[in-house]
Amino acid sequence: MIDPHNALIVISGVAGMTGSLVARKLLDRGYSVIGFDNFFAGSRSDVAALKEYSRFTFHEYDINDREEMDRLFKGLDESPRKELHFINCAAVVHTTHFYEIEATFATNVLAMKDMLTRCITHRFVSYINCSTSEVYSMDSYKEGGVREDMPVLVATAEQSQRTSYAVGKLLTEFMMKDRVAKGLILGCSIRFANVYSPSELHDQHIIPHIITSLMEHDEVTLLEHAKETQRTFLHNDDSAEAVIALLMTPSALDGSVYNVGTTEEIAIPHLVEKIGAMLGNPKPRIRYQGSRSADPHRRMLNCDKLMEATGWRPKKTLDAGLAECIAYRQGNRR
Ligand SMILES: NC(=O)c1ccc[n+]([C@@H]2O[C@H](COP(=O)([O-])OP(=O)(O)OC[C@H]3O[C@@H](n4cnc5c(N)ncnc54)[C@H](O)[C@@H]3O)[C@@H](O)[C@H]2O)c1
Repeated sequence: MIDPHNALIVISGVAGMTGSLVARKLLDRGYSVIGFDNFFAGSRSDVAALKEYSRFTFHEYDINDREEMDRLFKGLDESPRKELHFINCAAVVHTTHFYEIEATFATNVLAMKDMLTRCITHRFVSYINCSTSEVYSMDSYKEGGVREDMPVLVATAEQSQRTSYAVGKLLTEFMMKDRVAKGLILGCSIRFANVYSPSELHDQHIIPHIITSLMEHDEVTLLEHAKETQRTFLHNDDSAEAVIALLMTPSALDGSVYNVGTTEEIAIPHLVEKIGAMLGNPKPRIRYQGSRSADPHRRMLNCDKLMEATGWRPKKTLDAGLAECIAYRQGNRR
């Protein structure tokens, strides 16, 4: 356990879904947090809420801007010395940006590496690296869930710029492993799978897409292969708790990878029916249109390693999470 009085947690991408909730939870537990974000995809209102805490400091900085990062680290050097920890949530992520290879490489790979070097130079204790279950590509399912040490078969990935996201994240995992193996810092990488949040900003993601479509049109359009697709969905609250559990467990920060997900799997057409029923429309119309190659039929992660190392368990059922998502979107429409 990290002593809240003696620690300072720096979070990149603090306006994002994961970064903002991790920050809030740490602040609620008495920690001091410095966060930065350039609002590439973040929420200004989430940052405004964090600013209510006196132990929170925010900078509107771009992780790719050397001068801004120099300023951030100079500020840390000049403030009273505390035990420093870094959580790297800044990333080019989400459906609309998946093909933006230049930004993906700069932010997800080069900036991750630059921050790792800076953290080592400035004697940070630990660095948590956010990776993705997309590195499993088409081999995302196995009875009991895929494990972290399974071979990663990039050869089966979609042969397009989209794969730069998964490949870039995989490279960061090796950087993490390398620096920890050399004894330079503590850290780990986390492979998240399908995290969702009631207030998520991206309407194209499957849960908000279904809810919004059914609220507005009584009909949902899905890709053809969704007929046979099954997914697990991890509530952001559980996801953020996993990040904190790892941060608080130095023995787990051995440079390796941890899966974060659930085993509560649901077929996408069934998900539409479930949300439809919650909205009073148990047999909603589904229109299938278009397709995407190399989208795995099933994705389920085995999280035994994380559970054994930290005691973390997912707590939120899909039903409870969906009810929150619907309530949020209904509240926002009024
Ligand atoms: N949400 C998921 O299902 C999921 C799945 C796998 C992995 N991840 C990983 O988890 C981490 C957090 O993702 P998230 O879901 O919170 O995404 P998010 O988009 O909500 O948050 C990312 C944040 O990074 C910020 N950002 C982007 N470029 C930046 C830059 N150049 N400088 C400063 N800030 C910048 C964005 O503005 C945003 O606030 C990411 O590394 C992502 O790859 C998420």
